[in-house]
Amino acid sequence: MGGRGRLSCVGLGMMLGAHLAPRARGEITTADVVFVAAADPVVERWVQRMHADVRSLQPCYGEGRSRHAAYRDMVAMMMAEVRRGARVCGAFYGHPGVFASVPHRAVAQARSEGFEAWMEPAVSAEDCLYADLGIDPGQSGCLHLEASQYLAYVRRIDPSAYLVLWQIGVVGDLGVSLRSTGAMERALLVEKLLGDGYPPDHEVILYEAATLPVDQPQVVRLALDALVEADPSMQSTLVIPPARPMVRDESMIGRLRQCGRSTVQRAFAGSRGAGTEHAAVPA
Ligand SMILES: C[S@@+](CC[C@H](N)C(=O)[O-])C[C@H]1O[C@@H](n2cnc3c(N)ncnc32)[C@H](O)[C@@H]1O
Repeated sequence: MGGRGRLSCVGLGMMLGAHLAPRARGEITTADVVFVAAADPVVERWVQRMHADVRSLQPCYGEGRSRHAAYRDMVAMMMAEVRRGARVCGAFYGHPGVFASVPHRAVAQARSEGFEAWMEPAVSAEDCLYADLGIDPGQSGCLHLEASQYLAYVRRIDPSAYLVLWQIGVVGDLGVSLRSTGAMERALLVEKLLGDGYPPDHEVILYEAATLPVDQPQVVRLALDALVEADPSMQSTLVIPPARPMVRDESMIGRLRQCGRSTVQRAFAGSRGAGTEHAAVPA
């Protein structure tokens, strides 16, 4: 130690051992101190075998304690070491920047104090669900929302695209302190989804990516209105497939045609086809 402190926030990916990228592994093994936050204690023990000084951030969560307070403590613990001059690595499960506020806050705080700080991207639950459920977000679009935020705010939902609701296990927890919420909150969620155009018998998916190589992903398909009595966990993500076809905007398509062939040629000049796999607007 003795140098200038710095902070890297890396992702472990979703599956133990399978998703850790070389740069993230390098950060973990060469840091002065590693802080780890993983949903599974087995994953934390695996990180502990990579470095002599690995400190779990899990004790920041307390029964009934607001997660906001826990997040503040996590940032404070990492920043205390950065200020001491340590090369600090925060290792978070999944992607450190996906539905994870601590790494974003810690990087912003460190930079605001003049320290070098950055984030390494990684495999998130989103990446796993595309592979496990065979979804290509390019086909009809995909909107990702935090489940409680969807309930508490007025949002414009498009039932012709996929809708993915994160943290479904604690949907409606306004105090951000519970480890699960109940049928009453899920009934309100179903009510709102019905109001947004989804039929009650529309098939939705409770999804959990496998986190150990010996496990399989959990894919529970159920009717939307059966969600009320379902039992999502802290690791569940709700995937709602499109409920209706996309509606063509004939007026815009007509205007695009008038833009003429020359514009199209300019737009694609030099392209070797990357990004053109989808016929965005079938004839
Ligand atoms: C705090 S966020 C962390 C997300 C994580 N940073 C990532 O990159 O996927 C927690 C939410 O992620 C989703 N999640 C976590 N583990 C999951 C898993 N094994 N399968 C599917 N979704 C998961 C759930 O929606 C859960 O409520």
